[in-house]
Amino acid sequence: MSKSVLVIITGSIAAYKSLDVIRQLREHNVRVTAILTKGGAEFVTPLSLAALSGGPVYNDLFSLKDESEMGHIRLSREHDLIAVVPASADMIAKMAVGMADDLATATLLATDKPVIIAPAMNSRMWEHKATQRNIAQLCKDNIRIIEPEAGDLACGEVGSGRLADVETIVDRIVHALVGDQPLRGFSALVTSGPTFEPIDPVRFIGNRSSGKQGNAIAKALEQAGAKVTLVTGPTAETLPENVKTIRVEIAQEMLTACKASLPADIAVCCAAVSDWRIKSPCREKLKKHTNTSAPELDLVLNPDILHTLSTLKNNRPKLVIGFAAETESVRKNALQKLKSKGCDWIIANDVSEGKIFGKDMTSAQFITKQTNEAWNSISKDELAQRLVKKITTHFTSQNVKIITKKKG
Ligand code: CTP
Repeated sequence: MSKSVLVIITGSIAAYKSLDVIRQLREHNVRVTAILTKGGAEFVTPLSLAALSGGPVYNDLFSLKDESEMGHIRLSREHDLIAVVPASADMIAKMAVGMADDLATATLLATDKPVIIAPAMNSRMWEHKATQRNIAQLCKDNIRIIEPEAGDLACGEVGSGRLADVETIVDRIVHALVGDQPLRGFSALVTSGPTFEPIDPVRFIGNRSSGKQGNAIAKALEQAGAKVTLVTGPTAETLPENVKTIRVEIAQEMLTACKASLPADIAVCCAAVSDWRIKSPCREKLKKHTNTSAPELDLVLNPDILHTLSTLKNNRPKLVIGFAAETESVRKNALQKLKSKGCDWIIANDVSEGKIFGKDMTSAQFITKQTNEAWNSISKDELAQRLVKKITTHFTSQNVKIITKKKG
């Protein structure tokens, strides 16, 4: 996720919890900038905020330095979301009437981005008609409220008004940034790209796979919330962000990396693995002038990674998806592969006449034991999206519980 949040910290005893919110947002790869109000600065220091957010901390509307570094209008627009954590009764009242007498309120008034607030205050203040009126107004203004909880308050009283717990706040912010993540809590393994099997230190047996499709699938799974490991052969393509990537050269390394990445809920074998390798690759370059005839290459079979993962006794991923690269009888051959490899679904590509390999566009047949759908002339990103949708439907219809991060 490469999103950014502007966190505004206002004056409440719960302000110290904003530090943990910022730390956890950064663990989700969210970029954080902070505004500390005058009240907030009574409870946390700019230094600790700067250390945790990894960026500058702004606090003064009329500071020449702050305004020249980052004007409040830019500050209000260049983040994906503004989160007020904690939001004091005073800040809520100011927001409800649209005041702009400091950097935080001016920024909130100038923004065109979603705003989410996590109120925290004494229970009487929270339950006061004025605060409830202000909250109702903020709801009308499309400001999202992370309801405070009931419990022991810092002032010694018991009641509602306690800042929602940090995990809830982080979950709500992340959800607001990325929308639904139907595969949150799932893990996925994707193989991608070609393998290069060495003949000697210079030459190898390879194939035309670019890695584009595998990368697109890894990215789409990650965006759907899955924890993704991408095991890729040599590729010049840009690798997706926020995905654990293991680069390999040969099929045996790919298999080792895949096994080490288990357990996984989902496996998508998109790699064009070389079926054969040279039995004993030469340590030195094979020289043309010392060989009168072309060398004979002694080939041995490589492990079949898709078949291995599909037939694992203990650690088989719940859903194993393969690809079939065919140049003739595409459906028939793909169905045959579905059976012989033991995977659950297969995506068949007609790779004849230079189609598909290295291209941005693709055409495929999505094949299961029950169905067959044609996905004609779509981008590889679109294929990845369709596949992720199928995966999501599969798990939700099977009532497999989508585990969300444990609260509290
Ligand atoms: N595959 C694999 N390991 C191999 C060969 C293939 O994991 N050693 C996987 C591919 O990632 C793909 C599927 O098996 O998901 C089918 O690959 P493909 O190249 O179409 O078929 P092959 O198994 O190589 O069979 P054939 O050469 O007969 O088409």
